[in-house]
Amino acid sequence: MDVLTAILTRRSERSLVEPAPSAGEFAELLAVAATAPDHGQLRPWRWILVRDADRDALGACFAAGAEAGRAAEAAAKAHRAPLLATLVFQPRAGHRVPEWEQLAATSLMNHAMMLLLHSRGYGSIWRTGAFADSVPVRDLLGLHPQERTLGWLYIGSPLHERALPPRTPQDLTGKVTSLARRPEPSMAGGHLGSPSVQR
Ligand SMILES: Cc1cc2nc3c(=O)[nH]c(=O)nc-3n(C[C@H](O)[C@H](O)[C@H](O)COP(=O)(O)O)c2cc1C
Repeated sequence: MDVLTAILTRRSERSLVEPAPSAGEFAELLAVAATAPDHGQLRPWRWILVRDADRDALGACFAAGAEAGRAAEAAAKAHRAPLLATLVFQPRAGHRVPEWEQLAATSLMNHAMMLLLHSRGYGSIWRTGAFADSVPVRDLLGLHPQERTLGWLYIGSPLHERALPPRTPQDLTGKVTSLARRPEPSMAGGHLGSPSVQR
C-alpha cells in the first residue's frame, strides 16, 4: 500500500476483534515506526501491551474512577479491542531538546504505527479518556514519577468491512501563506480572534 493510499484510507476503528498483532509483529512494526523524526533520537516513550485477562485489571482501574453506577460501563471499555497498547511518554527533563519536541516525536511515531498497522490490515484508534493517567492506572502499569500515559492505541482487526466515509475536502487556503502573499487580517487571526497579521 503506497503512502497516499494508506493515509487516505486509514480510519480510526471503534469495533475491533481478534486477531491483533503478536508481540513479535508489534515489535517489527515499531522498529519501522520509530524511524519517524525524533530530535536527538531520544525515543522518549515506551509501550506497555495489555491484552487477554490483563484487560480485566485495566478495566478495574477504569471502574475505580467512574461515577457511581457506571463502574461496569467503565470496566468494559478495556475490552473494546483485543490489544490495548499503552503509550507512555518519558520526557527527558532539562534536555536541550524541549519537552514539546519530545512529545511531537512521540506523536509522529504513534501516527506512523497507525499507518503501518493499517497497511497490514489491522485497525486502530488512539483513545485517552478520563482515567488515562489516573493513580490506579499508573500503579497498575508501574509508571515512574516522570512518566505519563498518553492513552492507548486500541488495536485489532476491524469487525466490519465498511464503505469508507469520504474525507470531506476542506478549504485550507488560509492555512498556507507566504511572505509575499500575506493573509487577510481576518484569516490571519483565525480562531485566535486576533485582528493583527500573523507570520
Ligand atoms: C491524542 C488523541 C486522543 C484521543 N482520545 C480519544 C478518546 O479518548 N476517545 C475517542 O473516542 N476518540 C479519541 N480521539 C480521536 C480518535 O482517535 C480519532 O482521531 C477520531 O475519532 C477521528 O477519527 P479518524 O482518525 O478516522 O479521522 C483522540 C485523538 C487523539 C489524537
